[in-house]
Parts: sequence; structure tokens; C-alpha cells
Amino acid sequence: YLTLAIAVIGGYLLGSIPFGMIATRLGGAGDIRKIGSGNIGATNVLRSGRKDLAAITLLGDGGKGAVAVGLAHWLSHGNPAVVALAGGAAFAGHIFPVWLKFNGGKGVATFYGVLLAAAWPVGLLAAATWLAMAALFRISSLAALTAAALAAPFALATDRPYPILALCLFMAVLIYIRHKDNIRRLLKGEEPRIGKKKTAET
Ligand code: G3P
Repeated sequence: YLTLAIAVIGGYLLGSIPFGMIATRLGGAGDIRKIGSGNIGATNVLRSGRKDLAAITLLGDGGKGAVAVGLAHWLSHGNPAVVALAGGAAFAGHIFPVWLKFNGGKGVATFYGVLLAAAWPVGLLAAATWLAMAALFRISSLAALTAAALAAPFALATDRPYPILALCLFMAVLIYIRHKDNIRRLLKGEEPRIGKKKTAET
């Protein structure tokens, strides 16, 4: 249980590091909360016009999820339940970081980092889904929502253990909840496309 506690608490703390906020502040791009959607993720950092900071955000927010999973894997000798709980904790840390009064991001980059480290075939399939949807529609949220919905089916199709399946479902549900404004905009045809600086209401 000590292993589990360290993996989960460590995962949460890693996940709660808001790379988008730190990168934009240190990079001189202003307050990310006042740009575009106001979200702290890489998609919104891109709206500041700074591709370098968006890349750092994507790699940082994804990387912390992968590191949390790697740490849990190492501590538990690859126990899928510990790995899934630590990955879920890192993901939850990104969305509900104690440092931002529990109001963090939407979880997409961290979802990828966690998945690639915990179940790489699922992560690769989900990444391919995002890329294909983004190439077709150029809408980041739509690509992420599609990939999130398919993660659990991908885990089933590739015979992943139960805890990994549960992890996929958990992350998908939270991604949908966090994207409720995006979903509303998508339904109204008002969601901005990648690469446009036009801002949306929230
Ligand atoms: O990664 C979050 C993305 O799916 C949507 O971000 O800023 O367009 O709300 P944003």
C-alpha cells in the first residue's frame, strides 16, 4: 500500500504542474487565462502565436503523465492497477491542480502521455485518431473528443487488462465533462480552427 500511495500522490503532484501557465509566463506571452478559450493547454497556448511555447506545453503536459506512469511501473514492478491509478491521478492532477484552486486544464495532452506510457498501442491509435481528425477538420477539441471516445474500444481491441480499460473510461468521461463549452460551440458551428487566433467566449 505504501507503493500505491507514493505512486498515486506522486502522480497527482506531477500531473498538477501547469506547463502551459508556466511556459507562457516565463516565455513572456502574457496570461494564458486571458487568451482565447482561457484554457491552460497547448491548443490555447498556440493561440498566443507562440508555437515554441505550445510545443513546450504539449511535451510538458504529456511528459508529466508519462513520467508518473513510468514511476508507478518501476515502483510496482508493472502492476497494471497501480499503473492505472497513478496515471489517473496524474490526469486528475492536471485537471484539478491544487495550485490553481483545483481549476486546471482539459486533460488532452496528459491523456496522451499517460496512455503512451501505460498502453502504447492504445496511445498510438489514439494519437493517429487525433491527427486524422485534426487533418480533416482542423478543430483541436473535436479531434480530442473523438480520440477520447475511442480509447476504451482501442484498449478492448488490443486486449489490455481491466485497470487500463477503466483508466481509458475515466479519462474519457473527464475529457467530455471538461469540454462542455467546446461541445456547445461545436454544435453551434462556432468552435475555432487550429491556427486561427480568433477568440471564443470562454
Ligand atoms: O486540449 C484542449 C482542446 O481539446 C481544446 O482546447 O483551448 O480549444 O478549449 P481549447
